[in-house]
Amino acid sequence: MKPYEQLLLENKAWAKEKISGDPGFFQRLVDIQAPKFLWIGCSDSRVPPNEITQTQPGEIFIHRNVANLVIHTDLNLLSVLQYAVEVLRIEHIIVCGHYGCGGVKAAMTKKSYGLINKWIRNIKDVYRYHQAEIDALESEDARLNKLIELNVQEQVYNLAKTSIIQQSWKKHKAPHLHGWVYDLADGVIRPLLDLEPNSPLDHPIFEYDNLEEDI
Ligand code: CO
Repeated sequence: MKPYEQLLLENKAWAKEKISGDPGFFQRLVDIQAPKFLWIGCSDSRVPPNEITQTQPGEIFIHRNVANLVIHTDLNLLSVLQYAVEVLRIEHIIVCGHYGCGGVKAAMTKKSYGLINKWIRNIKDVYRYHQAEIDALESEDARLNKLIELNVQEQVYNLAKTSIIQQSWKKHKAPHLHGWVYDLADGVIRPLLDLEPNSPLDHPIFEYDNLEEDI
């Protein structure tokens, strides 16, 4: 059997098991999608959102990319964000990074990786903002872990800098924004940062003052 055929076989077994315990499971999901959470995580195969949070299909709306970045020109992320906030009215957005992230590790070197340079240069900026704090740490692992944490926090603020979030904060007092980091070594998620609706940003220049209250 080819490896991908194994996936299809496992899928059949999974679907069968689901309806044996709960015959209406799939039909409920056909009828409605009402997740409370948007997850923005790394594409890393070792950080599967549903599995590490013990959530079921239908519970988390998910966007993943290399190093869990929130880039203001990324139409993919912005489309997911707009749909999640304005249509699904999700209540919480979680940016979840993870220790040992290869994307962040690559950003800490001077090595060229080709096209992906353009993506991970955003992480180099995070390093540039916090260089003194990071370089003060003794070991390479500690420096990498610190940049991973600071990168998560930066992406949470990047979310709050979008007009999508600021508009929703004004109108609905939602969603809450959270920055988490997952530890590959023990499977535990550590919360780093929470931004309540209408929290001040890390710089007031990003706070739009002409957003319509009734949009
Ligand atoms: Co990663």
